[in-house]
Amino acid sequence: MTVFVGPVAKPLAIVTRRWPAAVEARLADAFDVRLNTDDHPLSADELRTALTEADALCATVTDDLSAEVLSAGGRTRIIANFGVGVNHIDLSAARVQGIAVTNTPDVLSECTADLAMALLLMSARRAGEGERELRAGQWIGWRPTHLIGTCVWGKTLGIVGLGRIGIATARRAHHGFGMRILCFNRSPVPKAVLRGLAAEQVDSLDELLPQVDFLSLHCPANAASHHLIDARSLARMRPTAHLINTARGSVVDEAALAEALKQGVIAGAGLDVYEAEPRVHPDLTTLNNTVLLPHMGSGTAATREAMGLRVLDNLKAFFAGNPPPDLCN
Ligand code: DGY
Repeated sequence: MTVFVGPVAKPLAIVTRRWPAAVEARLADAFDVRLNTDDHPLSADELRTALTEADALCATVTDDLSAEVLSAGGRTRIIANFGVGVNHIDLSAARVQGIAVTNTPDVLSECTADLAMALLLMSARRAGEGERELRAGQWIGWRPTHLIGTCVWGKTLGIVGLGRIGIATARRAHHGFGMRILCFNRSPVPKAVLRGLAAEQVDSLDELLPQVDFLSLHCPANAASHHLIDARSLARMRPTAHLINTARGSVVDEAALAEALKQGVIAGAGLDVYEAEPRVHPDLTTLNNTVLLPHMGSGTAATREAMGLRVLDNLKAFFAGNPPPDLCN
């Protein structure tokens, strides 16, 4: 007897936000795909439903995949995150449910480092203030005392978390801007890496803070890094120092930062990430010595496409029965 076997169903991948069109198309070639055509952030209920329907959930930073959301379980076997940070996913709850979690490292390091340097330069040179003044029609012309900033060349940059993005930022700062690099990292940084950046690793954050002109955060968001930069650590920084954050908002106590900037405890801050995105502490938005960007560190066409393709690589490996290259849990 001949048994007719129909086409084997492709796994269903639910994508929680819009992706670059070329990557959505590539995904649709390999999987049954459900796209979020109006690009709204999914609610907890929508995420729970997606977990009951999808074989793969293609999530991103705006999806709060807490233990509570994951606890209902469902059909999903892999959460393939579009982004390197996975602090919005409870990794152990996912493991308990037998869900693999992957991310997209490497492909966004250079781009995010570019943005960290952009924030550093903008904060040092008061570029946001200058632009606001000009657009408001308040610029009355060149004068020697106008919008005086601080130079970057030869200054000391402290890096918290000398991983891929921290290294890419330090490379730009040292080789491009002649900056001296100090770093604080939880594990010892390989000597060859330090040598390549003429960098020095210090033993504690407390030791780092008073020595730097700029402090750039590149550590992952977790319980250990929550509010690492609080009122106490800000008070240890130089009054001329600038804080740059392209990591995650939770690393900085935003209320304490706003107060420190108001009181002149530090000179300025350049931020791309916030504690409760898309909300920003209201005082930060009224201060002149802040540069505020809307979480756009990886936001170039090439990088966003590479991130999507990296998600696709993880999904293909997983559904072929192989370990996905970027497994996080
Ligand atoms: C990342 O990749 O972690 C970006 O911040 C977006 O989530």
